[in-house]
Amino acid sequence: MAHTATAIAHPNIAFIKYWGNRDHQARIPSNGSLSMNLAGLTTRTTVAFRPDLPADRLILHGNDIRGAALARVQAVLDRVRAQTGLNWHAEVRSENNFPTGAGIASSASAFAALAVAAAHAAGWQASTKDLSRLARLGSGSACRSVPAGFVEWLAGASDEDSYAISIAPPKHWALADCIAIVSSAHKAVGSTQGHRLAETSPLQQARVADAPRRLRLCREAVLQRDFAAFAEVVEADCHIMHAVMQTSRPPLIYWEPATLAVMHAVRRWRGEGLPVAYTIDAGPNVHVLCPQKHAAAVRSRLEALEGVQRVLAATPGGATRVIGK
Ligand code: DP6
Repeated sequence: MAHTATAIAHPNIAFIKYWGNRDHQARIPSNGSLSMNLAGLTTRTTVAFRPDLPADRLILHGNDIRGAALARVQAVLDRVRAQTGLNWHAEVRSENNFPTGAGIASSASAFAALAVAAAHAAGWQASTKDLSRLARLGSGSACRSVPAGFVEWLAGASDEDSYAISIAPPKHWALADCIAIVSSAHKAVGSTQGHRLAETSPLQQARVADAPRRLRLCREAVLQRDFAAFAEVVEADCHIMHAVMQTSRPPLIYWEPATLAVMHAVRRWRGEGLPVAYTIDAGPNVHVLCPQKHAAAVRSRLEALEGVQRVLAATPGGATRVIGK
């Protein structure tokens, strides 16, 4: 008899970024972070624990995946097996409805969906906190995709106290994220490697020391729906993370010319009175945030910029959840 469950999860965009770990193995971050789940972009994952499987299997969009990605999946499955006493291997099938490797953190939704589906399939009645901790083992930012809406990852100091909580439901603030895709090439240095390089930058200590202040400003701006305050702190946090990246050894320069063109355009539009702000993860694409009522205008302005290949739009998303097969 198979122990099977399917879960869907959304990726998230960090307003205050996670960059650098205190403990790389357990993914205990150097600072807390704050994000919004992205409805419209979805990962759907089915986990089946079966007595007849000789090993764990990972099937992404129909392709068998081995190596480092499978090892990360196994870290999550092993925790579920240890917790429940189930000793069967599992088959994990996963699909995204958005382009993988397009600079949209597919690992966040992937590991959130995996954690929730695996726990459910194994019969573990885990709390949201435990599911968030479980997802964190696979990918740090995945812990933020487990709870709903606007989410804060409490950095903590150990596996037990490093997890994410919802600070406001999706309906709290009608924000939109218009993602300007300027390149769909796979990034040369992924986040996992990047987190290890953070400590080689002399700026990382200053970034981490000031993170509680930026977190507080961002949390308040989100709770009050204060777009001007939000725009200021979100862009400042993006800039300081990229300053760390660009001053690491070796330096990580994720921006392309079109990335900078979008940044300048957004600043110009804001100067003209349009409420809009940007943030950029470990890649060249630009997440352009605005109130939903301006999303159509922002989208068409972005599409008109040279170097922007396409724009994906998302709104605040719900929690990772189990769905019927
Ligand atoms: C720049 O969560 O992708 O997107 O734990 O190694 O999987 P791993 O890293 P990951 O790092 C995310 C980095 C970021 C900022 C953020 O999402 O907070």
